Amino acid sequence: MQSKILGTGAAIPDGILTNQDIEKIIDTSDEWIRTRSGVVERHISDKDTPSSVLAKEAAEKAMEMAGISADQLDAILVASVTPDHSFPSTACILQDKLGARKITAFDLSAGCTGFIYGVAQADALIRSNNAKFVLVVGVEELTKVTDWTDRSSCFLFGDGAGAAILGPSEDDKSGILATYTASDGSLGGLLYQPAGGSSRPASHYSVDHHMSTILMRGNEVFKHAVRQMEEAALKALELSGVSKEELDWLIPHQANIRIIDFLARRLKLPLDQVVVSIDKHGNTSAASIPLAFDLAVRDGRIKRGQNVVMVAFGAGFTWGSVMIRW
Ligand code: UT7
Repeated sequence: MQSKILGTGAAIPDGILTNQDIEKIIDTSDEWIRTRSGVVERHISDKDTPSSVLAKEAAEKAMEMAGISADQLDAILVASVTPDHSFPSTACILQDKLGARKITAFDLSAGCTGFIYGVAQADALIRSNNAKFVLVVGVEELTKVTDWTDRSSCFLFGDGAGAAILGPSEDDKSGILATYTASDGSLGGLLYQPAGGSSRPASHYSVDHHMSTILMRGNEVFKHAVRQMEEAALKALELSGVSKEELDWLIPHQANIRIIDFLARRLKLPLDQVVVSIDKHGNTSAASIPLAFDLAVRDGRIKRGQNVVMVAFGAGFTWGSVMIRW
């Protein structure tokens, strides 16, 4: 049995922070941010809107497109590094908010690759007959863990959620053709949140010393991202049997426009076959791929029968890919 994506949804907070706003916070320029990262503006949530609120909105839109109701869900997977709390999981909070049955619900932490990991798990649950309909959400409120004094990273991040409903494929024309996930924990220190977990519980010291926020060695991460995203994309082609020539769309993790350009060139895809939303959303980690995917599905760019590869890289390090025929 094959699984397929039956519906997508997205949610972004109303608040917008432009590069001109960032110029007032750190020593930078709109021009530098655009050319080095591709970000023009990012959405920012308020203190009364935790991740589960965005997740719920995205999930409801995805269920509507899929034509299923919350009580038909068999599992809820939420990928996030900015959940509402360490526990309970945002997936459980979402289960309650959606009014779903007492089903499997858990969070997974795979950084910016979280949505890819989630889709791979949902696909496995469906193919092994352990679930019929699975909700996968990638949601982040990175602006709440951004170090606004760090000029080398704070301009990158944004908030948002994207969701997908996976279910069994009733024909062999569309579905998940391949999934691939990988990790290398030895490089975790290049992109992490130093304090707030059991290795260094939150304290006045850790907050005062900017240890509860994102710490990224951008340049180093960049080099690994380029390499591993190419590997993941090629793996998806190999596992699915889809050739570069048969590829219609690339949906990359929206980390940096220069990484996206590089990957498109390696796949021999012109930029008009690449879904880019980093200019509007910034880097929304686990939400970035489902957000971009939902945009391109709803505006009609991605058409039935087309081959779409999604490729991500993130904290962990983790990386992975999903090939679908839409
Ligand atoms: O999502 C998970 C994976 N994440 C990624 O893949 C992110 C990967 N990293 C990146 O996207 C890039 O490393 C950044 C966009 C974060 C930074 O770009 P970069 O080209 O790697 O910049 P850099 O840190 O090497 O800095 C280059 C120069 C430095 O000046 P000098 O030493 O060359 O004179 C910095 O001081 O740019 C300077 N700089 C800035 N200038 C203006 C650093 N930050 C800024 C800034 N505004 N905000």
